[in-house]
Amino acid sequence: MRKPLIAGNFKMFKTVAEVRAYARGLRHSLDGLSGREAAVCPPFTALAAAAEEFKGGPVAWGAQNLHWEKQGAFTGEISAGMLSELGCRYAIVGHSERRQYFGETDATVNKRMNAALGAGITPIVCIGETLQERETGQTIVVLERQLQGGLQGLAPSASIVIAYEPVWAIGTGKTATPAQAQEAHAFTRGWLAKNLGQAFAASTRLLYGGSVKPDNMSSLMAQPDIDGGLVGGACLEVESFTRIVRY
Ligand code: PGA
Repeated sequence: MRKPLIAGNFKMFKTVAEVRAYARGLRHSLDGLSGREAAVCPPFTALAAAAEEFKGGPVAWGAQNLHWEKQGAFTGEISAGMLSELGCRYAIVGHSERRQYFGETDATVNKRMNAALGAGITPIVCIGETLQERETGQTIVVLERQLQGGLQGLAPSASIVIAYEPVWAIGTGKTATPAQAQEAHAFTRGWLAKNLGQAFAASTRLLYGGSVKPDNMSSLMAQPDIDGGLVGGACLEVESFTRIVRY
């Protein structure tokens, strides 16, 4: 019932020319993809090029962030409407790097999520604990707080994706074990069932992120509550992202 989604987060990597070359390669290597969905989130500057290159192919595209206002005097910001004009299907919201370096809070995550939904874009809402929070036994409390704040007021008819990304596993080469990831995902699905209903919980895709690689993807995907991946470093090469998507 939940079609796996594997999304690549380019972060601040790749020029327009590099995204064009990558997109041509990925389109080709994922030709005929079925039974799962692939998406990439390049930098804003390369979204128009990505839209041109991926159009009509098996790969969707999305943004790494967006602002909650429709327009206005917000220097440096990009609105949901600007992204939907470029055909973005997804927008990452509340990535831990934005929480850590750019003052993102659960309240602003909530506003961004609503802006995306209002423009017909599916938000990929990121949650996850730091190493210190894990080591002091606060993982579940943190996830609950992020879900409560980030998803506040969400209508059960809305369609979102949630990415569980333990901060200590991002870019560190230290993946959560499949069991650790499954535990967090099972908690998240339970929370969704309790707060948004069984149907919402059963249909919402929960992605794992944090040092996903071609050789750990299969064991993560074998877990009952892991419905895909949000991939940083290993999505930057066509070959390794292809292997992850085709796990
Ligand atoms: P990583 O990043 O795969 O490089 O750990 C994941 C992410 O930040 O989404």
